[in-house]
Amino acid sequence: MAISSSSSKLVFLLWVLGFMSVMSSAAKFDELFEPSWALDHVSFEGEELKLKLDNFSGAGFGSKSKYLFGKTTVQIKLVEGDSAGTVTAFYMSSDGPKHNEFDFEFLGNTTGEPYLVQTNVYVNGVGNREQRLSLWFDPSKDFHAYSILWNQHQVVFLVDETPIRVFTNKEKKGVPFPKDQPMGIYSSIWNADDWATQGGRVKTDWSHAPFVASYKGFDINGCECPISTNAVDNTKKCSASEGSLLLLLSVSTGVGRK
Ligand SMILES: *[C@@H]1O[C@H](CO)[C@@H](O)[C@H](O)[C@H]1NC(C)=O
Ligand SMILES: *[C@@H]1O[C@H](CO)[C@@H](O)[C@H](O)[C@H]1NC(C)=O
Repeated sequence: MAISSSSSKLVFLLWVLGFMSVMSSAAKFDELFEPSWALDHVSFEGEELKLKLDNFSGAGFGSKSKYLFGKTTVQIKLVEGDSAGTVTAFYMSSDGPKHNEFDFEFLGNTTGEPYLVQTNVYVNGVGNREQRLSLWFDPSKDFHAYSILWNQHQVVFLVDETPIRVFTNKEKKGVPFPKDQPMGIYSSIWNADDWATQGGRVKTDWSHAPFVASYKGFDINGCECPISTNAVDNTKKCSASEGSLLLLLSVSTGVGRK
């Protein structure tokens, strides 16, 4: 008797937790992010956020706050079938002409041909650090976790917690490193058929629109920068915070994992 009553309590608890985790995606999005353009191309269907691209518009969302150091993760299921000409991006960026930016760009392809993931890092407005890689899975079949981790030592791009690129702080050798501009977190889908797929030879086939990227599992673990506080004070606050210590630990374990 005792066993069956505690196991039914357990089942009930799991049911409640399961329910909460289904509910939390939309709630978490609303807490952290907001649609930034083409609001009619951004929608929640169940627990999944959808961004749509058609011949009228793409769409995007951005974080409500800016952060100085942190780790952000979203789970994305990329456009299925024919995604040629489309680019879905997940990135962090600061504002202004000398901005910093850390990009994941997913370059679509014709049906059955592989996506490419392009990463890039801009420091003080200068990019040209593109790297391209093929994933070890089809990113349009399932959700996978994409993360950007940023601290004073490095910027790490992770796919399902596996680091795929590390941009190390080499300031001691005179290479600039982004560390004093607060950054927002963004995602968008747009048409880039002049360059994205097979060097721009394959154009977007609009008869296959709308192209839909799906999102869930929104997470930001970072040092938030109040807009009312000046940059120098924010840098002090975020450099000193316990949060950045924890992030340091999570980098070293994250990079070690293979
Ligand atoms: C956009 O696509 C719709 C549906 O395929 C089509 O009816 C319409 O003519 C297109 N508009 C333009 C400007 O290409
Ligand atoms: C698309 O598929 C072609 C043929 O497999 C491949 O060469 C190319 O790298 C793929 N990705 C992109 C984005 O063009």
